[in-house]
Amino acid sequence: MAGLHLLSNQKVEFQPFFIGSVKVDKPLLQAPLDGWTNEPFRRITRELGAPLSVTEFINGLDVVHKTPNLPQRIAFDNSERPIVFQLFDDDPERLIESAVILEERCHPDVFDVNMGCSARQVANRGAGAGLLRFPEKIQKIISGLTAKLSVPVTAKIRMGWDSDSINFLEIGRIVQDCGAAMVTLHARTRKQEYSGKADWSAIAALKSALKIPVVGNGDVETIADAERMMQETGCDAVMVGRAMLRNPWIFAGYDFENVPLDLFRMTCRKHLRYNMEYYGDHWGCVTYRKFAKRYLSRLEVSRENMQTLMTTDDPDTFCRYFDVLLNGEAL
Ligand SMILES: Cc1cc2nc3c(=O)[nH]c(=O)nc-3n(C[C@H](O)[C@H](O)[C@H](O)COP(=O)(O)O)c2cc1C
Repeated sequence: MAGLHLLSNQKVEFQPFFIGSVKVDKPLLQAPLDGWTNEPFRRITRELGAPLSVTEFINGLDVVHKTPNLPQRIAFDNSERPIVFQLFDDDPERLIESAVILEERCHPDVFDVNMGCSARQVANRGAGAGLLRFPEKIQKIISGLTAKLSVPVTAKIRMGWDSDSINFLEIGRIVQDCGAAMVTLHARTRKQEYSGKADWSAIAALKSALKIPVVGNGDVETIADAERMMQETGCDAVMVGRAMLRNPWIFAGYDFENVPLDLFRMTCRKHLRYNMEYYGDHWGCVTYRKFAKRYLSRLEVSRENMQTLMTTDDPDTFCRYFDVLLNGEAL
């Protein structure tokens, strides 16, 4: 495949690396995205070449209280190994307890702790990026997890709570000293959420300060961006978030506009099929709409046709319409 060929001929060599004992074949990683990186989508990214899977974040509260939505949050296909379970919580003991429960039940290959979520209901509760304000809690969490789990533990952080409290170097060192095997830095503060530009110089600074692998994250949209981030920061791997929602083919080495149309169509159809198998026909089509909208932005689809597709409830009709639009025809 041309894209994979391209990957092996990059200016920056994409080398395998290790998260503790876990080998990762390629340093281009799928980011966890709540509401998106469910099992069907992750399988698609894996088939296109993403080297590991990361779940959407899993709430420690849901694990200890066994809430009804938990099974879907933790479901994965064995073909997805290595699989990273990402946890969030504000209470160190509960977070550790939930990791122990999940390790026994599901045997994921890595646990990651979310210290970057900026959503109000998470961060203001002291979880996600809220943890960055409590380095002593982070110390408890990472040392507790590394003591109790038999698999590597990693952390995903931001630069700090706001521009007056930038502390990613301090947090990175704590996490490393407590035994974590890797740190990912989304190079923004919590206050920035997703605004402004990610500050890649922070990724370079963290890489210089730590011995464990550092993953850079923020605003990588193309293969050239990924190469540039590796070159400019020296990071061990690059994590791609929002861009992969439109372009999972980035893991095969393609920018969106260059994906060969037959591969593009085949992947879109397969993703819809996986979604329907996973969620059932009706819900599978409904939850696929947001992907369909992004994928179809590659083609010239009229606003009316898009609107018709987005409001089609019947699964057979949805599949038929989607197929017609994928073929570049009008409804
Ligand atoms: C809709 C959405 C959901 C997200 N969910 C998570 C999550 O569950 N866990 C996490 O660590 N980060 C989450 N993030 C942050 C991304 O993983 C990533 O750090 C961020 O989007 C920056 O990378 P990008 O510029 O490549 O998108 C989410 C981001 C978005 C936009």
